Amino acid sequence: MKAVRFHEYGGLEVLKFEEAPKPEAGASEVLVRVHASSVNPIDWKIRAGHLRGFREYPLPFILGWDVSGVIESVGPGVTQWKAGDEVFGRPDLARPGAYAEYVAVREGEIARKPAALDYIQAAAIPLAGLTAWQALFDVAELKPGQRVLIQAAAGGVGSLAVQFAKLKGLYVAGTASGRNQDFLKELGVDQPVNYETTRFEDVVHDMDAVIDALGGEIRTRSWKTLKKGGILVALLGGPPSEEGAKELGVRQTVMWVKPNPAELTEIGDLAASGKIRVILDSVFSLQDAARAHERSQTEHARGKIVLKVEDQVGNHG
Ligand SMILES: NC(=O)c1ccc[n+]([C@@H]2O[C@H](COP(=O)([O-])OP(=O)(O)OC[C@H]3O[C@@H](n4cnc5c(N)ncnc54)[C@H](OP(=O)(O)O)[C@@H]3O)[C@@H](O)[C@H]2O)c1
Repeated sequence: MKAVRFHEYGGLEVLKFEEAPKPEAGASEVLVRVHASSVNPIDWKIRAGHLRGFREYPLPFILGWDVSGVIESVGPGVTQWKAGDEVFGRPDLARPGAYAEYVAVREGEIARKPAALDYIQAAAIPLAGLTAWQALFDVAELKPGQRVLIQAAAGGVGSLAVQFAKLKGLYVAGTASGRNQDFLKELGVDQPVNYETTRFEDVVHDMDAVIDALGGEIRTRSWKTLKKGGILVALLGGPPSEEGAKELGVRQTVMWVKPNPAELTEIGDLAASGKIRVILDSVFSLQDAARAHERSQTEHARGKIVLKVEDQVGNHG
């Protein structure tokens, strides 16, 4: 099959569009013919070697932990899926991903793709959508009427988190550059904050939770926006130092997104029914994965960056 792989860690130039062995569906797995994948920041962080020491990948390796496509075949023991089913999901980050014509995934890592969602939209949802959902509702356990600050609210995770939070009746503050202030209002942000002109902790107060997709000093500054007992959910960085947070009486935790077909189905239905919008920053062909990484590396994507696979490699008609 055709795939984009890297044989060594490094810059954009290490991504190669080339022939690679077609995977097979093992026990409790399905083989998906990929229509689209997406680029998440972790992809280029891994490619550049930033996560070495934390996780080693066998080289050459295929990135890409969002997939939408059609089941080609099922492995032994699979009962809930059959060839021809349209699915979307988030493959396991420890295994080869979906910058390829085919990817093998566990049956519990996918959900049925709603017919009303096209493959491009569907590939934009799983990793970012599950992250946003789990941070807001599983980890912070936010309830209607509560208040949340969403850092990087215009990004892949943030643009979905804002919409989920508004649907659930939360008050939402969100940060972005000046360029994205109108966009945040369109998404439904009650209190948009322009980080280029305003220190968010000067104007955002009494939050029940912060979803922090930025880390570093943003994390420690974010504590000040929380009410006592409020929680900061960090999406990146190591275990948070308790010093400082404890003094302010706030809690914090680092979360890592988990597969959850029921939540993915719910999010897919929200998108299919138009209750949330999937925001596409850009769509690249699989061959242009390096350009897609370059875009993600700016750290200024608005919504998601998607890789279109199917008719790029000419095998799905
Ligand atoms: N723990 C997990 O399971 C998990 C899962 C998914 C993602 N993550 C992590 O979460 C982070 C966000 O992911 P993503 O996919 O949403 O990334 P992304 O789409 O690349 O985020 C880009 C957004 O960040 C905003 N931004 C950049 N600097 C900012 C600042 N100082 N203040 C506020 N906004 C700022 C940009 O807005 P402007 O252009 O307006 O600056 C842009 O819209 C990444 O580091 C990713 O690795 C973790």
